[in-house]
Amino acid sequence: MTETTARPGDWAETALGLSDIGDRFRTRVPTDRYRSEEFQQREREAIWMRTWQVVGRTDDLPHAGDWTVHRIFDQSYIVVRGKDDVIRGFVNACRHRGNLLCQGSGNAKRFLCQYHLWSYDLDGKLRGVLRENIQAPFDKENHGLLPVRVECFAGFVFLNPDPDAAPLAEFLGPDVAELLAPYRLDEMTTVMNVREALECNWKVVMDAFHEGYHVSGVHPQLLRMIDLDPTKSRYRFFGDHCVAVAPFDVPNAAQYTPEQQVAGIKELPETFPSLTGVLPRFDELVATYADSDGKLVFPEGVTARTILQQATRDTLTGMGLDVSGLTDAQMSDNQGWALFPNFFMTIRAGECHVIMAAPHPDGDPNRCVWHVRSHMWLPPEHRDEFRAELVEVEEPGSYEYFLALQQDYEQMQRQQDGLRNSTLDHMSLVKEEVVVAHFHAVVDRYLAEGRTQP
Ligand code: FES
Ligand SMILES: [Fe+2]
Repeated sequence: MTETTARPGDWAETALGLSDIGDRFRTRVPTDRYRSEEFQQREREAIWMRTWQVVGRTDDLPHAGDWTVHRIFDQSYIVVRGKDDVIRGFVNACRHRGNLLCQGSGNAKRFLCQYHLWSYDLDGKLRGVLRENIQAPFDKENHGLLPVRVECFAGFVFLNPDPDAAPLAEFLGPDVAELLAPYRLDEMTTVMNVREALECNWKVVMDAFHEGYHVSGVHPQLLRMIDLDPTKSRYRFFGDHCVAVAPFDVPNAAQYTPEQQVAGIKELPETFPSLTGVLPRFDELVATYADSDGKLVFPEGVTARTILQQATRDTLTGMGLDVSGLTDAQMSDNQGWALFPNFFMTIRAGECHVIMAAPHPDGDPNRCVWHVRSHMWLPPEHRDEFRAELVEVEEPGSYEYFLALQQDYEQMQRQQDGLRNSTLDHMSLVKEEVVVAHFHAVVDRYLAEGRTQP
């Protein structure tokens, strides 16, 4: 193994375990927040209109003039890459009489309003007014598109509807940037990009990805490979955000023969397809531990986990990618990042999966739109070949998610059906759902602060 000096990923060695966290967060969560229109209205003002939210990736808009529309409830924004390569955001409304300027996404040299043909430059300046010379004189300088805050971090484009919000870097905090830097997220390519309306509240989605407690019930195929011993998980909280990690390992590896450990790893691609690329090197390394009868003998300190880590490091290095900033644990273990309000990401060396959920624009708290994206770190010459376009799923159940995601997809909508029962007034979280508890504590704090705002 090549571990040497301290790297940002070493945080997991010393971070908080469940016993350190104790009773810091409330475990009784009221359920009206999943079905009440009034609650959703409060969330809209206190959270959605005030926080930084991911609206895409910089490589969704690779060329000058590429634009896309982002909606939050009934608010509509244009996000566009300018001629100067800067990505900007604007309120999607013409400054003449408010017509919606854009729908969907596209590329434009300038924005042309269909109603009376006013036009705007990519940086929002009002450019042309039909029969300008005979209209009443007015100040063109002050009739550009209304800007909305947009900033980029790690290849993600964030938008915040609040003009007075703190900068994105402040919202995320320095630790988030430092810990994520070695993964080179900004160089990753989108290899899966799917959006679909779901029959559940947006927080049902976030909750489901904030805990591993449901793996035994919902993803039994993962039990062989994810060590669910809650005492082995580690947590770090950064204000509104947090990260958790559980070792990617055959539970109680010592009880299993090397052959059984290897078999556990080889089953993984069914759930994590991207591991397929690592298996050839994994097999090569495993073969070096075979004795003359072909029986595997792992010396002290070697397990299928450590071989998977070496295989991942070798495979990525062989592709010309610099993984020297990542620890061995980051080669195998998925860290689960929760950036408030609605961004969840599992990340390990070379890949990440992102889950986002937002209230449905129709305003029904029992519905949301989820957006799942996978990203891989690929050599530049292969990026275009693997890049995936956005798939908007219209017909429920028609898209085939990979196994673990499909299991969550079905489970979340079942949970909402239960949560609709108004006589169930609260949920009771267990200790290992600490990230769920933290998330709801942050929701509660935003709502409490929202009430005191003018
Ligand atoms: S509303 Fe856009 S030009 Fe009139
Ligand atoms: Fe799940």
